[in-house]
Amino acid sequence: MDKKVIVITGGTTGIGFACAEHLLVKGYEVVITGRSEKNLTEALEKLNHKATGFLSDTSKLSDIDELVNLVKEKYTKIDGLFVNAGIFKSSSFEATTEEVFDETMNINFKGAFFTTQKFVPILKNPSSVVLNTSIVVFKAFAGTSIYTASKAAIESVAKVLNLELATKGIRVNIISPGVTESPIQQKSGMSNEAIQNLLDHFSSTSPIGRIVKPKDIAPILEFLVSDNSLVLRNEKIVVDGGTTM
Ligand SMILES: NC(=O)c1ccc[n+]([C@@H]2O[C@H](COP(=O)([O-])OP(=O)(O)OC[C@H]3O[C@@H](n4cnc5c(N)ncnc54)[C@H](OP(=O)(O)O)[C@@H]3O)[C@@H](O)[C@H]2O)c1
Repeated sequence: MDKKVIVITGGTTGIGFACAEHLLVKGYEVVITGRSEKNLTEALEKLNHKATGFLSDTSKLSDIDELVNLVKEKYTKIDGLFVNAGIFKSSSFEATTEEVFDETMNINFKGAFFTTQKFVPILKNPSSVVLNTSIVVFKAFAGTSIYTASKAAIESVAKVLNLELATKGIRVNIISPGVTESPIQQKSGMSNEAIQNLLDHFSSTSPIGRIVKPKDIAPILEFLVSDNSLVLRNEKIVVDGGTTM
C-alpha cells in the first residue's frame, strides 16, 4: 500500500518536529515547513533526509500558494495536514502593540486559515486536517491575550469547515496542548527565570508530575491523521497531563 503523505507546517522544531520524527518511524511520508533556512536544514539532517522540507512563511499567502504547488508536484494529493506553525509573544493586554497583534494574528490565525483553505484542492477523500491550538482557549493565562484570540479564532472555524468540507471527505479536529517544553518559550520574550518558573510550576502541579514534551503530542497526531479517527469531527484532544482538569 502507498504511504500516507502528511504535511506539517512549522515542522522544524518543537511539536511539529517531534510529530515528523514519529510519523516517519510509523511509515508515513512527511513534508515539513518553516521560515528559517538554518532550522529547516538542521531538522532535515536530524530526520536523516527522510522527510521533504520547504521554506514557507505561513503568514504570506504567496508562500502558501507556492508550498501547495510544490507539494502537488511531488505527491499530487495528500492524506493529512497538521496546521501547526505558530508563535507566542508574551505581552500583557495593556502592553500589546499593533506589531505583536498583527504578527500573532497573521501567523496563528490568518496563516492557519489560508493554509487550510489552499490545501483543500489537494486533500484526498478521505483526509484529515488537524489544527494545533492551545489550552489558553478555555483557561485564562495572564500575558496571552492576543495569542489566546488567535488560537480561539482558528479553533472556532473548525466546526464550520467540518460542515463545508464534509462532502469532500475532509475532517477537521483539534489538538490543544498544555504548556509544552519547546523552543517557543525562548522566542516568547520571557526571561530565562520566568521560563524556568513556568516549567517548574507546570511540572510540580501536573498530575503526571512533569512537563508535557513535544513527543507526547506525536502519537495523538498520528491517531488523528490515521484511519482510526475516520468518524471524528471537531474533536478536541487536550494534551496537558491533566493540568486543566
Ligand atoms: N509549546 C507550548 O507550550 C505550546 C502549547 C500550546 C500550543 N502550542 C502551539 O504549538 C505550535 C508549535 O509550537 P512549538 O511549541 O513546537 O514551538 P516552536 O518549537 O517554536 O515551533 C514553531 C514552529 O513554527 C514555525 N513557524 C513559526 N512562524 C512561522 C511562519 N510564519 N511560517 C512558517 N513557519 C513558522 C517555526 O519555524 P521557524 O523556526 O522557521 O520560525 C517552527 O517550526 C504552535 O502553533 C504553538 O502555538 C505550543
